[in-house]
Parts: sequence; structure tokens; C-alpha cells
Amino acid sequence: MPEDLTSGLLTDTEVTQRVESLLEQMSLAEKAGQLTQFFYFNNLPPSQDIEETLRVDFSQQPAMVEAELAKGHVGSLLFVTDPAETNRLQRLTIEGNRLGIPAIFGFDVIHGLRTILPVPIALAASWDPDVIERGQAVAAREARAVGIHWTFAPMVDIARDPRWGRIVEGAGEDPYLGAAVAAAQVKGFQGDSLASAERVIAGPKHFAGYGAALGGRDYDEVNLSDSELWNVYLPPFKAAVDAGAGNIMTAYMDLNGIPATGNAWLLNEVLRGEWGFEGFVVSDAQAVHNLRTHGFAADLAQAGARGVGAGCDLEMAIGDPAFAHLPAAVEAGMLDERVLDTAVRRILAAKIRLGLFEQPYVDEDRARAVLADPAHREVARAAAQRSAVLLRNDGGLLPLTGAESIAVIGPLADSRRDTIGPWVFDYDSTETVTVLQGIRDHLGDHAPVTYAPGIRSAQRTFPSMFDMWGDNYPVDPEGFDDAAELDRAVALARDADVAVVVLGEWQNMIGEAASRSDLGFPGDQLALLQAVCATGTPVVLLVMNGRPLDLRWAAEHVPAILDIWYPGSQGGAAVADLVFGDVSPGGKLPFSWPRTVGQVPMTYSHTVSHEPVNQARRYWDEASTPLFPFGHGLSYSSFDYSDLSTDLQGITTPVLAAGGTVTVTVTVTNTGPTQADEVAQLYIHQRHGTASRPVRELKGFQRISLAPGESRQATFRLGRDELTYWNAAARDWVVDGTTVDVYLGGDSTAELTTSFTVTTAQD
Ligand code: BGC
Repeated sequence: MPEDLTSGLLTDTEVTQRVESLLEQMSLAEKAGQLTQFFYFNNLPPSQDIEETLRVDFSQQPAMVEAELAKGHVGSLLFVTDPAETNRLQRLTIEGNRLGIPAIFGFDVIHGLRTILPVPIALAASWDPDVIERGQAVAAREARAVGIHWTFAPMVDIARDPRWGRIVEGAGEDPYLGAAVAAAQVKGFQGDSLASAERVIAGPKHFAGYGAALGGRDYDEVNLSDSELWNVYLPPFKAAVDAGAGNIMTAYMDLNGIPATGNAWLLNEVLRGEWGFEGFVVSDAQAVHNLRTHGFAADLAQAGARGVGAGCDLEMAIGDPAFAHLPAAVEAGMLDERVLDTAVRRILAAKIRLGLFEQPYVDEDRARAVLADPAHREVARAAAQRSAVLLRNDGGLLPLTGAESIAVIGPLADSRRDTIGPWVFDYDSTETVTVLQGIRDHLGDHAPVTYAPGIRSAQRTFPSMFDMWGDNYPVDPEGFDDAAELDRAVALARDADVAVVVLGEWQNMIGEAASRSDLGFPGDQLALLQAVCATGTPVVLLVMNGRPLDLRWAAEHVPAILDIWYPGSQGGAAVADLVFGDVSPGGKLPFSWPRTVGQVPMTYSHTVSHEPVNQARRYWDEASTPLFPFGHGLSYSSFDYSDLSTDLQGITTPVLAAGGTVTVTVTVTNTGPTQADEVAQLYIHQRHGTASRPVRELKGFQRISLAPGESRQATFRLGRDELTYWNAAARDWVVDGTTVDVYLGGDSTAELTTSFTVTTAQD
């Protein structure tokens, strides 16, 4: 298999020539076919409602798709991961197509294909663009090896409301961190050349605003002010586009009353016009068809015409695509054929750049070898180590260096399926290291490890739409006796030096269509924790999650809490590395951790208005501050920040002239006993100007590794990009003449501060 699938990289002119020579031979139906992407499902459970709406019989879905392939009416397929199958379906596509145009295969490679990385919110918690890029490069390598050319990732939707289950797929609440994580993922997936046998097209999603669903209810409408859109929700998309993303996926919901998938302002004006995006846009699943459901189109022909007219090039469909009606729409004068041609050009160009015409098939032996590469597991382990966030460590209970015996408690501790989290389909369950396994492997014969689930796994009652692929859940033994099992867990905890309790959400409680109105531990988990704590044995709580949970009781009563997220295939091994101190936790929260669901949505980056002194007491029944602030994360060591300064001159305050750049430096010292990482975070606050600006905004971060006693200088630059913001009154990007406070430290409450004055051209 050649590294580069095209015979050298094609110039833009060569790509254009090849596109045009195909396009001029194509009929209207063939053009519409190129714009149609079908799921290829072999195992869909019957669903009367969906089948009626989509006018598709799930049991016949594969046959229907194959018939379309034979007619040359399909441009792309999704949900096929077996290399023999991608080859077979590719052959059908090419043979069925008069012009021999291959299909582009897409898939949700969200956090790994075979080797499962920590979930995306965990990757973001690493605040480590390098490890994120390396992780997604592994995912790309595995995906491309089996015949997948394009991933529906990264999800770059900002999420400030953890009731929304898809918070697990993104980078949390902050636009600056979100942009950095988005760019790192795009680079990891795409590398330098899409024609490489190791890379795939990245498809940042869901454009745009999807994370702000009303009430945190997935798919519900989104109403965002101009200021929130430009300053908060769009920057990660812009960063992904600037990093070269080849695709963008639309969103399901209405944005300010217009469906995102039919939103010409979003797709044509902002994405293409202002940002210069040159790739292709895919709809979310059924979202063009759904334009009719939204009441945005009278029928499917109008839905198709409005979708493609708005700038959506490819329709993702299970059945009955609206784009099948595009030829009729052109013939009826509802759609200019030139608009259709533009969309077809984008799809053909992507296929040409990927090298699909030269090499449409994959080598199945190579695929097996790539999937088995042990180096991939090492990357997953490093990513899990770097993602964990130490929320609390009273009395330095962690790391467990001297424990003679350990009781591991909780069904999640030994659940392979939950360890790898949502949005995985092609994993090999036997490769997954659970927390229990990781602890046992780590201790070997040195210390006894006992285990009791304490409560039933079958408390997993949440009906997830993804459970049709769900398997490998732990099975409760016949005759499970709740009271006896709880007693057994408590007895094991009492007899051990330390109890390690693993609690959190079952992985099927989070992800798409998995919103919750409550953030508590599910089922009897809190009662289990309380019973174990009552034994008096020191307790380490490991939280397995993709959203913040209600930790109020634990934060008061449990000395050590480590957030391990859904840590992936090597999760248990990485967790053992952390628990026993081979590695110090260095992750930081990518969201403000609320105390209770009643506080959400929540962000550290809010503005100030009337009675700011009462900002922390906006509710009479609960503080309005977070339980743990954005950016929080402890370490086995401790850090000191000093010598914060800028390179500006000035008599009272240093002055930054219009358009200039200031360099900010700070010294970070490891004042504790261990080698450890710290994420130095820089926040700004604009004191006054022509709009209210947030009390703090993240504008720089660096993860640095320090030996005990070591000091390092961290340097940050602030210029136009960091100081500019979208001003809703001016309806433009603005830099105000103002004074800017700079804060440096290990979380968003950092106190070390300096300031500088900004002069503008008018001053
Ligand atoms: C999700 C997308 C996903 C697509 C394909 C949709 O339901 O919203 O994020 O990429 O399905 O699986």
C-alpha cells in the first residue's frame, strides 16, 4: 500500500480539470446521486414510527441501498467498518456507476475505531493539544485502513448545560479551549495530506449552536444572541476551518427560528463567504428530509432545493432522501442547475483529493495489522493518564503508596462496555482494561484486591437509541440479592486499608438523545457510597462520567475524588498508573462543575450587572458558585506562580498601542515532592468599553511538566485576536480602548494579576 494514494499531490488546477470533465458527462439523476449519502445498516431493529416517517423498511434497507448503488445513484455510504464490506460495497458502487465514481465512506470515529481513546470531553480535560492530535491520528490510521475516508468529528459544539447528553462529545464550555481542541483534532485526523493512507477528512459538527438546546433537551430549538454566537459558539468552528477541515456537518435544530440545515446565512454567508471554507457540507442524519418536519419546506422537493440552495452539499439519509427529488426541482424551476453543479463539484473534488479514483479499495491484511498495532494502545493509555482530573485530595490520600489491601467497589469498576464510553461501535471488548483489572495488574501479588459491585448493573434502565449496538454489559448473577450484595461490599470495604469506589453514569445515559433533568448518581449509587464511607475505611472515589454529576455529598465526605471520565480501552491501566502515583494527575476541568442541576446553564465567563456583591448568592437555597471552577484540577505536587510581567512600557500602567502585541510571562515552580504537570492558564478581563465583557476569559494555556523544585517561565502573547470581540451594538468586531486585567494561575479563580492599557487608533 503506497503512503500516498495519488501519484503525487494534484494541483488545484488538475483537480478542477478532473471535476469538470466528470461533471459535463453527468445527468441530473447522477448529480443528485453524488449528493446522496446512505447509512448501510445490516442490523436495524424494526421501528414502526421511523419506518413510516422515512418510508423505509429497515429489514430491506441494505437491499434498497444496494439497488441504488447499482443505478449509480449514491455518492457516499456510512456505518460500514469491516474492510471486506467496504471493499464489496465500493465495488458495487464503481460497477454500478457509468463514470466509475467511487463512494466516499464516512463514519463516526469519535474517539477511536478499534483502539478507544478517552471520550472527547476527557481529551479536552487534558488541555494538551499534542496528545489530542496524536490520539486522533491513531483513530484516523485505523479508520483509513478499513476503508473509511472521513470521520464525523470533532464535535466542536460549546456546551454550558450538562443536562445535554452530547456535552461528552465536545470540549466543554469555553470558546478558546474549544478552538484549540478543535484545531488539534482536525490536525490529528487530516495530517498534511488527505491522500495519505493514514489520514481521513475531519468533519467538525454540528454547525451551529446545537449545544445550546433549550432546557438541555437534545434536538430542541436554540436561540442565541449575536454576541453569544460570534463570541462563544462559532470560534471553535472557525478554528477548525482555519486548521483545514475538509467537511462540516450541519445541525438538527432551529437556530433563531431557521433550521440549521437550510440556513443559507450560516452555510453560504458565514462559513463560505466570511471564513473561506472550501470543503463540502453534509447534513446531519435525515436533516434535509426533516426540513419538511420543521415546516420549512412544503414537500421533499422543496426540502431538497432549500437544503442544497442553502449550501448543504450532501444529504445523510437512512431512506427516502429529499435530494432524490433534486432533478424534479430543477425541472420545475425551483432550483438552478448551477447550484446543484456547485455542490457536485465539491463532492467530486473531495474524492479526487483523497485519491479514491487511484485506490478505491483497502488491503484487508494491512487493515488487520494496523488495528492490532500495540503503539496505538500506548497512545490511548497516555491520553487517559493525561485526561484525569483530581477534584479533591484531602490529606494526600492519593496516591495509594502504602495500602496493604484494597477493596474495589461498584459495578462500573468492572464493566468493559462502560469503561470505553458512548460512540464506539467497532471496539474489541476483550482488549478493554477495566479499573478493577488495571488495579489487579498493577499490584500483582503485592497486595490483595477484593471486589464487589455492591449494587446491580441492571439498574441500567435508561433506554438509549444506541443500545441497538449495546452489548458486553456486565450481567448480574442469577439470584442477585440486593441487601446481601450491599452487605458484602460494605464488609470488603471494612476489611480493607482503602476502598476504591467507582461510580458514575452508565455510558448509555449520555451521548445523543440522552439528556437528563437531574445530575445525580443513578440508582442506588449514592447510597452505596454512603454505606462504604460509613465503615470509616478511607475512600477514593473514581467518577466515570461525561458530564458533571451532583458531587455535593461526596465533596464533603470523601477525601479523594478523581474524575476518570470514560477512559477508553486502556482506561483501567491508566487509572492504576494514576492511583498508585506512577503518574500525577494533571488534567483540568473543561467546564464549571455545578453544585446542582438548578444552576445550569453555567459558565465562569459571565458578565456583571446589578449587585455584583451578591453574585455568589443569586439563589436563596444554594450558592450560585460552582462546586469546582472551570480549569480546576489538583496534582500530587503543588505549584507556585510568580513574577507575572508584560513587556510593555508605561508610567502608571503599561500601554499597548492599537494593533500591537503584548508578551506576558510568568514563572511556574513545582513546590511539591513529585514530578508533575501543571496547566498554566491566562485569563483576561476588560475593565470598561463599549459592551459588557465577561469577568474572565481564557486567552492562553500551557501544560508544563516540572520536576520537584523546578521553575519554568511560561510565555503568552496577547494581540488583536485575543482582545477583539463581537460587539452586538456595532454589529462588528471591536477592540476597545480600555484597561485589561490579566490573571495567571492554575484555574479560573487565579489571583496573580497585572494589567495594561489598550489605546486604539482614535485615542
Ligand atoms: C448525529 C451525528 C452523527 C450522525 C451519524 C446523528 O444522529 O447527530 O452527530 O454523526 O448521526 O451517525
